[in-house]
Amino acid sequence: MVSLKSLHTFGLDVSARSILELREPEDFRRFLSLEEPKILLGSGSDVLFTGDFAGTVGLVRSQGLEITEDPKAWHVHAAAGENWHETVLRLEKQGIPGLENLALIPGTCGAAPVQNIGAYGCELADFCEYVEICGAGGGIRRIPRDSCGFGYRTSNFKTKWAGSLIITGIGLKLPRRWVPRLDYGPLRELKGRQDLTSRMILEEVVSVRRSKIPDPTVLGNAGSFFQNPCVPAALHGELLRRHPGMPAYPQKDGSFKLAAGWLIEHAGLSGRTLGGAQIYPRQALILVNTGSATPGDVVALAREVIHQVFDTFGVRLVPEVRILGADGEIPATDL
Ligand code: EPU
Repeated sequence: MVSLKSLHTFGLDVSARSILELREPEDFRRFLSLEEPKILLGSGSDVLFTGDFAGTVGLVRSQGLEITEDPKAWHVHAAAGENWHETVLRLEKQGIPGLENLALIPGTCGAAPVQNIGAYGCELADFCEYVEICGAGGGIRRIPRDSCGFGYRTSNFKTKWAGSLIITGIGLKLPRRWVPRLDYGPLRELKGRQDLTSRMILEEVVSVRRSKIPDPTVLGNAGSFFQNPCVPAALHGELLRRHPGMPAYPQKDGSFKLAAGWLIEHAGLSGRTLGGAQIYPRQALILVNTGSATPGDVVALAREVIHQVFDTFGVRLVPEVRILGADGEIPATDL
């Protein structure tokens, strides 16, 4: 068995039968043809292992960044194993703005489309031109953005295509005409600044994230543990009458997205500890490993959150992290 403790950001003491580093197309093909339980990890920043894994873990380690340009935009191809934040920084340093709101999101470029990473009013889908994949037959091809099924923290890679292909790279399109996105909370303060640069936004995003989200190299975690839930207008109205300060964001379909962190905090759970697992006191949407957490501690705490939030507000939270069992991924709704 091989330890996975340093290969995922929760830092839990779990193992896999074997691991395989994937760099070249041939490695990807070999991995796809393995007839045993298999899962892929980039930097393991959005997963919860519920115990040991009985198969092979493929570690996506391909590298490379290619930039081309036309009069309207830069086109960036990043290999799946490239670190996302490093890529954002490299582009910024080369005078290519656009990704600043998505700075400091942990993980690799190849993992970014799976849950359609998002923060501060932007998401990957806003900039994605295509996702390059290696399919079951071993062929490499590009799937255009509109066929990827992107939604809030989801895509076809997370749902109907999960396990049947490997993301080998992503294509980003960054318009030369830079439009700053300042509608989200703390970024609004930058509105109207004449000297505004993408660097200033990037620095603000990094500073806000550092103040709320624990550094996984110091305190094990996988970022937001739950998705923000969408509820029908009637339930939203009823909740708002009971809790006038409750944040909510109207959606195009008439539903309302609630802030899971607020629900958890107002269910009285901020800072709650179970074994070595804790609800992070500064951002209740994040579960942390205080050092000695077992997978069972994290699962039990997550279940307690789900039950208590449901009992208090009648809203069922669904994990945002991918839940991994002994043989592969477990549907998040089954936790
Ligand atoms: N809130 C509380 N108590 C808490 C946490 C949040 O009352 O303990 C309230 C905040 O005051 C605010 C609202 O909830 O009114 C939203 O909080 P925040 O701005 O921190 O964002 P979030 O909805 O909790 C989402 C993403 C984060 C992303 C931030 C910023 C999801 C599941 N999470 O969190 O993404 O960084 O917005 O855009 O959508 C991640 O995916 O791992 C992640 C960290």
